[in-house]
Amino acid sequence: MQESQFIWMNGEMVPWKDAKVHVLTHAMHYATAVFEGIRSYGIDGKAAIFRLDDHIKRLLESAKIYEMAIPYTFSEIKKAIKDTVKINELTDCYIRPLAYYGYGEMGISPLKNRVDLSIAAWKWGAYLGESAKSNGIRCMVSSWQRVNPLSIPPMAKAVGNYANSVLAKVEAQKTGFDEAIMLNMYGLVTEGTGENLFYVKDGELMTPPTTAGILRGITRDSVIRIANDLNIPFRKNNIAREELYIADELFLTGTAAEITPIVEVDRRIVGNGKIGSITKKIMNKFENIIHMKEINHYEWMEQID
Ligand SMILES: Cc1ncc(COP(=O)(O)O)c(C=O)c1O
Repeated sequence: MQESQFIWMNGEMVPWKDAKVHVLTHAMHYATAVFEGIRSYGIDGKAAIFRLDDHIKRLLESAKIYEMAIPYTFSEIKKAIKDTVKINELTDCYIRPLAYYGYGEMGISPLKNRVDLSIAAWKWGAYLGESAKSNGIRCMVSSWQRVNPLSIPPMAKAVGNYANSVLAKVEAQKTGFDEAIMLNMYGLVTEGTGENLFYVKDGELMTPPTTAGILRGITRDSVIRIANDLNIPFRKNNIAREELYIADELFLTGTAAEITPIVEVDRRIVGNGKIGSITKKIMNKFENIIHMKEINHYEWMEQID
């Protein structure tokens, strides 16, 4: 990874190499942590953070689901994120706030331990590889079922969920695919290991509803709004596994992956194997918005002076 200079830890700017925790930190043993992934884009030499308020809101909501009291307010977290980007002199970057139960007592209950907050920011390019956005990626339907809300709530962006994502991702990579798509306990499509999924059939755009057991992606929400702006017919709809095989277009959305077309699922070619026209339209609009090339959705970009 491309290191930057400082990481914000509980209100202090700590040099990158010194940003350490004790090996008996509660979250290291019991996955008692929630986090965010946020992107900032360089516009005219300045940083513009994409939907910052929505990411902080989701961080606080993830903590609420776990009854975890983050000892900082919304505006303190917002200032800390902006300060971290600024002190590292970053513009185009990825930002990772992490709230975790720290060092104190061992044992399952985290309640006697303090909640620590760290915020790191660094340069991070194309998450699924340089050619992913132009050529599309190859996916497999995972043999691992997505965590289900009866045991671990997928709507919280909690560290524990990613044990499930890691199993699916490693299986996909070792089987020769770029990414995994996971099904829920009813065999319906949920999401990728770190992305939401969209599906196009006969001119209509669809994505699984949150009740399928997914993270409420902020890029997903942005794509839904863009589809509305472009008058693309859209609905939230449960997707069966085999619908993936007969889709006209498929793509993944996420802060890290942005909008990444899928050209193959389980060796079945999606559409004509090229990026579909609806996907292309949405990708273009999204690119223009994040680079502030159009006034539409300026409110999504939080510029730092
Ligand atoms: C499991 C999962 N689903 C979906 C997403 C996409 O969410 P967002 O667009 O808010 O980054 C992510 C990434 O944060 C994720 O980890």
